Amino acid sequence: MTASMQNKTALVTGATSGIGLVTARELARKGAHLTIVSRSPEKCVKVVNDLKSDVGNPNIEYIVADLSIKEEVHRVAYEFKKRHTRLDVLINNAGGFFMSRQVSKDGIEMTFALNHLNYFLLTHLLLDVLKASAPARIINVSSDAHRNGKVNFDDIQYKKNYSGFAAYSQSKLCNILFTYELARRLQGTGVTVNAVHPGFVASEFGKNNGFLMRLVLRLISPMAKNTNDGASTSIYLASSREVEGVSGKYFVDTREAPSDPLTHDKALAEKLWNLSLEMIS
Ligand SMILES: NC(=O)c1ccc[n+]([C@@H]2O[C@H](COP(=O)([O-])OP(=O)(O)OC[C@H]3O[C@@H](n4cnc5c(N)ncnc54)[C@H](OP(=O)(O)O)[C@@H]3O)[C@@H](O)[C@H]2O)c1
Repeated sequence: MTASMQNKTALVTGATSGIGLVTARELARKGAHLTIVSRSPEKCVKVVNDLKSDVGNPNIEYIVADLSIKEEVHRVAYEFKKRHTRLDVLINNAGGFFMSRQVSKDGIEMTFALNHLNYFLLTHLLLDVLKASAPARIINVSSDAHRNGKVNFDDIQYKKNYSGFAAYSQSKLCNILFTYELARRLQGTGVTVNAVHPGFVASEFGKNNGFLMRLVLRLISPMAKNTNDGASTSIYLASSREVEGVSGKYFVDTREAPSDPLTHDKALAEKLWNLSLEMIS
């Protein structure tokens, strides 16, 4: 179903565990020249070494960065462009769930900073190289949790009445509004952008929220997909010929699927776009 990625350059964020790790492994197996990004230097070194020996692809690199921090996102784009002149596939995958309210080093609520502003900023900083490499693909890992979300413009950072679920659902709704708006703006450039719901996947996701949350995740894990299945849609969108030229869509289990009607609200998407631009500057 999916094609070779020889001579393709790909960047995957959050590729040291879970869905991103399997996605990175499969793109490397297909021959992509791969860069992974995450916070831990030790995990990055281990993943790069493991992937090189597992799949026999020497062209795997890493950039260590905390993507909740704007300056670090800028550094990722700068480092990447210093090393590469093209980017065929960008997969915005790094994300998290925060049961209690946290703020990034920039003072922005962590879920919004990491799950939405990071996708928005990194994509903007890499758009020139993506356009120069067209046809190129952007994949934004979202979630069906977007259906429970609203864009809380009165208090986008949930300074009052914080709920981890509300902040997470909002961020995943923002991923799709951003995807659709970007697809409209990229028409005619040869760069496509699509969003993914990976399913409920047994990964490290949510385990940063203490013993009780880890226990709950363990109890419900028999209902979850494994990470191989969870990564299948990202891999499909990154590599399949079937989706050449397809843009501005939501995919579940390697098929186009309807997203919540709210995601098609163009005025909402534009308002979010403008707010995001203000917040990254
Ligand atoms: N698991 C699910 O059921 C599920 C369902 C729907 C959607 N999703 C979405 O799928 C994506 C991947 O989730 P996953 O389940 O694979 O989670 P995971 O196993 O927790 O992996 C998250 C990855 O993101 C990286 N990361 C976390 N915070 C970061 C930061 N501040 N800066 C840079 N990298 C960071 C982590 O690496 P380091 O710790 O090394 O930084 C790790 O590689 C997320 O966007 C999530 O919202 C997951």
